[in-house]
Amino acid sequence: MIYKNLGNTGLKVSAICLGAMTFTEKGWRSAGSMPFSEIQKVVNYALDSGINFFDTADIYAYGESEELLGKALGAEKNKVIIATKVRGVMDENDPNSRGLSRHHILNSIDNSLKRLGRDYIDLYQVHWWDNHTPIEETIETLNDLVRQGKVRYIGISDFAAWQIVKSVMLQEMKGFSKFVSAQMYYSLLGRDIEFEVVPACEDLGLGILAWSPLAGGFLTGKYSREKAIPEDSRYSRMERPFLRFDMEKAYFVVDELKKLAEKYDATPAQITLSWVISKPFVSSAIIGVRSLEQLKDNIGAVDVKLKEEDLNYLDEITQPEKPYPQWFLEMFADL
Ligand SMILES: NC(=O)c1ccc[n+]([C@@H]2O[C@H](COP(=O)([O-])OP(=O)(O)OC[C@H]3O[C@@H](n4cnc5c(N)ncnc54)[C@H](OP(=O)(O)O)[C@@H]3O)[C@@H](O)[C@H]2O)c1
Repeated sequence: MIYKNLGNTGLKVSAICLGAMTFTEKGWRSAGSMPFSEIQKVVNYALDSGINFFDTADIYAYGESEELLGKALGAEKNKVIIATKVRGVMDENDPNSRGLSRHHILNSIDNSLKRLGRDYIDLYQVHWWDNHTPIEETIETLNDLVRQGKVRYIGISDFAAWQIVKSVMLQEMKGFSKFVSAQMYYSLLGRDIEFEVVPACEDLGLGILAWSPLAGGFLTGKYSREKAIPEDSRYSRMERPFLRFDMEKAYFVVDELKKLAEKYDATPAQITLSWVISKPFVSSAIIGVRSLEQLKDNIGAVDVKLKEEDLNYLDEITQPEKPYPQWFLEMFADL
């Protein structure tokens, strides 16, 4: 396994983090489900392979994911790094059972700890920005949780760059614990964060945790122009695609991944993940699986060392168009 520091912290996390969005027997949205017996095999194999980093959220199957993750980790659960999140709607009928208010965060942390069967959370993340709560209220509450020992590190997820900068600057001014990581969508088909979020995080010392690095499985090569969408796959469960990308371009990228896979005697999933974890700003790629077989495939990425020329080629064919003011700033950077 490859280990990287989580942002500017001294904490070492495996470059592959196992996401637990699929840890549910009843199913959750398009993520699908897995019987507990398979979850147990997946977690055992992950631990044996050196994965020490697991990501979940309170809203994944409304607590079932946290519960099953804690159960599958068993006696190992205090040795590994567990990240979870707060912000989503836990009870449709309760206007306070959501968001980033002091009320909801303090209730949520205790519920997450109970479900995970732990006394503390390693990385507590705010799932996405809350327009209805002042960020000052949120960061003060998170700071209290760190001081109480219920939380060791705090992070954000799905923030715009200005939201990250505003939050961290306020944390610094107030002498509060600062966000150390940014969990963001990042894949060969979605590199938008490179323009604003990544430079902000690099400047402030936050590590990127790349979610859906396989674009929900699209980059494994199992979807193709020629064949129908495979049954019981993520994309077969979605009414319309959740991640936004151009289909034709995506099929072209998959074709190129297949060629590279042949060259390296690897699989398209391994080539994709190897590219993601090669990025210095990425602390860990958060993968999702629905079977032990998929996990075995994906973990193989740590043994694939892509040559500089192939990394550059993948960069080149997936380069998104530079938005303003990036192209302007680049043009005049040296003046
Ligand atoms: N912060 C956020 O907003 C946010 C959002 C989404 C996810 N996340 C985190 O990121 C984690 C990963 O997200 P993700 O599940 O979308 O990641 P992903 O790795 O891009 O996609 C995982 C899905 O792809 C398919 N797959 C994976 N490996 C495969 C293989 N080798 N061969 C064939 N199919 C394969 C499986 O779906 P099927 O078998 O069902 O097709 C699997 O569930 C989540 O568990 C969660 O922790 C965070």
